[in-house]
Parts: sequence; structure tokens; C-alpha cells
Amino acid sequence: MTTGARTTLVVGATGRLGVAIARGLAVRGDKLILTARDATKLEALSKDLTALHGSPPPTVCADLTKPDAVDVIVAGARKQVDYVGNIVLACGPFPRTPLASLQREDLLHTLTVHAVAPLLLVHALSNDLARVNGAVVALSDAGVNRPYTNFVAYLTAKGALQTGLRALANELAPDVRINMVALGIVADPEADDDPLRTHRLATRSPLGRFGTPEEVVHVVLALLDATWATGEIWGTGR
Ligand SMILES: NC(=O)c1ccc[n+]([C@@H]2O[C@H](COP(=O)([O-])OP(=O)(O)OC[C@H]3O[C@@H](n4cnc5c(N)ncnc54)[C@H](OP(=O)(O)O)[C@@H]3O)[C@@H](O)[C@H]2O)c1
Repeated sequence: MTTGARTTLVVGATGRLGVAIARGLAVRGDKLILTARDATKLEALSKDLTALHGSPPPTVCADLTKPDAVDVIVAGARKQVDYVGNIVLACGPFPRTPLASLQREDLLHTLTVHAVAPLLLVHALSNDLARVNGAVVALSDAGVNRPYTNFVAYLTAKGALQTGLRALANELAPDVRINMVALGIVADPEADDDPLRTHRLATRSPLGRFGTPEEVVHVVLALLDATWATGEIWGTGR
């Protein structure tokens, strides 16, 4: 049982960005709780971070599409720490939903995993966060304000997340701060199918390239520490 130390819950910890964020937090001395779906990937990450973290970071397996996911994560955290001090929301997925075949289920799935579960998780841990004037940082997408094609369900869910977290930021201020990062592209899942697409998309950004996970970590850590900011959306790489 960890007491006294600031513990950050990383949701989607095994993803491209989640791994980098967990590492960045461990480097600066935060205690971690890692959550995602896949137990094998979580255990591998925990093992990898053991030396930096000083002990294997605890892990909690939960599928955010399941109705009990928030209860599972909160119960798992309670077994490890007295309270959760910060939350980083970095969970996937990024499903392609071409307009011609868009289904009700696509929207329900993305809304559940990207908006409903994260919002309920922040709500469930709000007293923990308030106890230490903690912060939430969520990874959103620049496409919410500058939509791209074939991802209506995902972008709708990220828009709901942004609005919901802004409302929660208002409700929970001044004790808890909640901020978001509207990311451009770090990794394009469709790049292998169309290398020219990578060039086209990267050069749409004024900086002319995709970002790196480390550049995202820099912004996430800054927002966790930004004690005079809440309800803000920091655009990066757009
Ligand atoms: N990478 C980019 O270029 C980019 C750009 C804009 C925004 N973003 C946003 O940044 C965040 C992280 O992106 P990423 O590239 O790191 O994503 P990623 O590599 O696909 O990782 C997604 C993470 O979410 C977890 N996850 C997926 N479905 C889940 C579910 N149903 N329940 C619980 N966990 C689930 C995955 O764990 P499991 O493998 O165990 O399921 C994994 O840890 C996402 O919110 C994404 O939308 C990323």
C-alpha cells in the first residue's frame, strides 16, 4: 500500500502514447497505476517500468466498453493506494467508420469507450482528486474542430468527451483541474497502406511533420502541473 505519494492513474497505459506518458511520469517520480484491457501487455509494461518506478507499478485490467469498468478500476486502485491524485486519459480505439456503412453500434461503442466511461471514472474518483488538488489530462483530437473523413463515430465521441470534461471542470473547480490536449497525428494507422498519405497529412500541419510520443508527454506533464488552468484544450501538432 502506497501512502503519501502522488499517484497517477494512466488509462490506456499500454498504447503508443500511454506507454510514453507512464514512462515520463515515472521518470519524474510519480507513482503509477496502469490500466488497459490486455493483461499480458500491462504486465510487460509494469515489468519494464519497475526500475524507474522503484517497484512494479500496479495494474488493473478493465474493458471500458463494459458497464462495470469504472467499478473495476476504482476497486483495483483502492487495493493499491489510499487515493488517486491525478488521472491521464489516453485510451483508444481509433476505429474507421466510413460514412456509407456507419451504424448505430459504431456510435454507441465509441461514445462508451471515449466519453461515457472516462467521464464516469473522473466522477467516481473526484473526491480522491479533490483531496490533493489533483488534475485530469485527457488526450483528445484536433479533428474535433477540424474533422477528417471516415471517422465520424470516433470524432463524435471525442467531441462528447471534450464537452463533458469541460462541464466537469466547471463542476469540480477549484479543487480539481481538468484539461485536454487536442492532438494532431503522432501515429497514422493507415500509413502503411498509403505512404503518400503520410506526406500529405504531415505537410498539412504548419510544422510539416507528425509528432513524437515524447512531444505529447511534454504537453501532458505541463498540463498536469498547470495550477492556473482548467477546462482548457491545448492544441498541439495541428
Ligand atoms: N496516436 C495519435 O496519432 C493520436 C492522435 C490524436 C489523438 N490520439 C488519442 O490519444 C490517445 C492515445 O492514442 P494511442 O495512439 O496511444 O492509442 P493506441 O496505441 O491505440 O492505444 C490505446 C490504448 O487504449 C486501450 N484501449 C483500447 N480499447 C480499450 C477498451 N475498450 N477498454 C480499455 N482500454 C482500451 C488499449 O489497451 P488494450 O490494447 O489493452 O485494449 C491501449 O492501452 C487516444 O485517445 C487517441 O484517440 C492519438
